[in-house]
Amino acid sequence: MNKILSVIFSFVLLSCVNQNDKKEILYKNPQISVEKRVSDLLSKMTLEEKVLQLNQYTLGTNNNVNNIGEIIDKIPDNIGSLIYFDSDPSLRNKVQKKAVEESRLGIPILFGYDVIHGYRTIYPISLAQACSWNPDLVKKACSVAAVEARASGVDWTFSPMIDVARDGRWGRVAEGYGEDPYANAVFGVASVKGYQGDDLTDTKHIASCLKHYVGYSASEAGMDYVYSEVSRQSLWNVYLPPYEAGVKAGAVTLMSSFNDISGIPGSANHYTLTKILKEKWQHKGFVVSDWGAVKQLRSQGCAADNKEAALKAFNAGVEMDMVDRCYTDHLAELVKEGAVTMDKIDDAVSRVLRLKFQLGLFENPYTEEIPETERYLQSEDISIAQWLAEESIVLLKNDETLPLKKNTKIAVIGPMAKSRVHQLGSWSAHGKEEDVISIYDGLKENLSVSSNLLYAMGCDFEGDDKSGFAEALAVAKKANVIILCLGEKKEWSGENASRSTLALPQIQEDLLLKLSKTGKKIVLVLSNGRPIELCRIENECSAIVEAWQPGIAAGKAVANVLTGIVNPSGKLAITFPYSTGQIPIYYNRRQSARPNQGKYQDIQSEPMYEFGHGLSYTSFKYGEMKVSNTEFTSDELIHVEIDVQNTGNMDGAEVVQLFISDPVCTYSRPVKELKKFDKKFIKKGDRHVFQFEINPHTDLAYYDEEGNPLLEEGDFYLMIKDQKVKIKMIR
Ligand code: NOJ
Repeated sequence: MNKILSVIFSFVLLSCVNQNDKKEILYKNPQISVEKRVSDLLSKMTLEEKVLQLNQYTLGTNNNVNNIGEIIDKIPDNIGSLIYFDSDPSLRNKVQKKAVEESRLGIPILFGYDVIHGYRTIYPISLAQACSWNPDLVKKACSVAAVEARASGVDWTFSPMIDVARDGRWGRVAEGYGEDPYANAVFGVASVKGYQGDDLTDTKHIASCLKHYVGYSASEAGMDYVYSEVSRQSLWNVYLPPYEAGVKAGAVTLMSSFNDISGIPGSANHYTLTKILKEKWQHKGFVVSDWGAVKQLRSQGCAADNKEAALKAFNAGVEMDMVDRCYTDHLAELVKEGAVTMDKIDDAVSRVLRLKFQLGLFENPYTEEIPETERYLQSEDISIAQWLAEESIVLLKNDETLPLKKNTKIAVIGPMAKSRVHQLGSWSAHGKEEDVISIYDGLKENLSVSSNLLYAMGCDFEGDDKSGFAEALAVAKKANVIILCLGEKKEWSGENASRSTLALPQIQEDLLLKLSKTGKKIVLVLSNGRPIELCRIENECSAIVEAWQPGIAAGKAVANVLTGIVNPSGKLAITFPYSTGQIPIYYNRRQSARPNQGKYQDIQSEPMYEFGHGLSYTSFKYGEMKVSNTEFTSDELIHVEIDVQNTGNMDGAEVVQLFISDPVCTYSRPVKELKKFDKKFIKKGDRHVFQFEINPHTDLAYYDEEGNPLLEEGDFYLMIKDQKVKIKMIR
């Protein structure tokens, strides 16, 4: 009898084991759909294992001063994600091995990092990229970053930042695509596509993260981490559109923001995180909090302790807690107390696991350890960085001084002239100073007779030491043209890098004013991460070149523009105020009650340089704007075209921007709204017909407070440059 029982027992046991085996095979089997694998794996996980998947710790030495966190030595082998500060894949592989081979279920870790404008091959900051008006090129650059990052052990970047930013004092203005919602949407999408490609299992791509959801750039007074006042109408019409576009383009994750949105923090905001993102837009990926943003709900006065912070963030829709351990410490307890439901935990974990399957991490958890020389700075990639830098440069002013004439004696002066590190800009990942070509070196390479090039630093970026002025003056006097390279240190923009003024430090302005006394032509070359207040110095310059922070190819790109090898084609994606006191100033402001009054008494009310401003070495003649139908119904497309001829003496690219306006509507709408743009290279003497399609539903509608598009009959205007055509929507 005992024998029979034991046989039956072994049979039951065996069939259980077999079933378990079968179950295990299910989620490990790449032939099965991702959704089936997710639910199979989920069914095998304990609550504690699930909670760990919702946490992100760090690995390696943190190189961002603002992310003050502990470097932890004991990483749980079933942690969801790590921020990977190292660039050596072997450290990743070691930690991954523990997760995959030693943890109970073998769930691979997701490694994230801030790859913002390049990993090692650093290309221009995002604000500059937007001035290129070339999304295809931005996409290319992002795919270079993806290749380098993935080869170094990074699966996921915290980029793009698509926060519509209109206050240059805010240091993070450098990280986004400027002041316009549509531009942020288009460049955000380009960047998502560049990072993610069509297939995340392809180890040339990485997952992207739209950030900082949402309204972070509305931080008051240009300060960082502070409150923001965002009306529902601005939320829907200004801040959300780039996110909606990014979600539609397939961005797999988003990062919740530090700011509050009119009183409810972005990281505890059920309306934006769940109602809009998960319910209305049906996003299937996950939301990671910003660094410490869960815990910071306490400082924001929304949670009494870490437990309440975890509860609020999680129930609002933040699936992963970046570094602050509120979820590790409290989520399981909150489930046991019934404050958080198991369904919500399962939904959150599914979202994280889904991405791990999509990235192919279960099949391919390790990074091939190839030498750095094969991973970074491939010549084709450097060319893309240079090309983007060239297209991002904006020629702000030119009194027939540029391009430089042959055999001109040039004095290169200023703290930025030989600087390499500051050309990298903020968030320069693993970019290195030695990879950068300085403006001085770029010019030296371009000018055949290098003896024509004189140099003096003149002064430092800040401080009051004018001892270098005399040498700068002496050098300037020997030259025909002064190339004065001024700007901002890389630390002056980025996170926690607000400034009270957009002006350059006094010492830099003083140097320029001193040099102007020589009567020599001054070409001001600016490298910076925000618009600069130029009112005291603009008149003294014969030409102004806005180079932004162009990355490793800075010197080559600037030299090519100065010498005319490249014809500048960049146009501003952000307004340059006349003075900091004009902030907020942006082109798409709402209509004023008295358009001709309400001006400043002490200064001009117009900006120094408008959104869209940018000169070329050639001239373009615009033909008459042609509109297919000036009366239309809501379902009819409107075709717009305009002929542009290159009438100058040089080949060049032109950007055409199409704006709309709705003069009378339920809401007071902006005076102008960008809806389309295109950039084309036109040889001298040639012409190009730019064509655009306006869809009333997407291009003419405005959102109400609940995000319903409002399309009202009546007049609209279509605008290209100074042309304006009235169109009418009829029933
Ligand atoms: C804080 C920043 O706000 C965010 O942009 C960044 O991605 C995270 N830290 C991670 O470094």
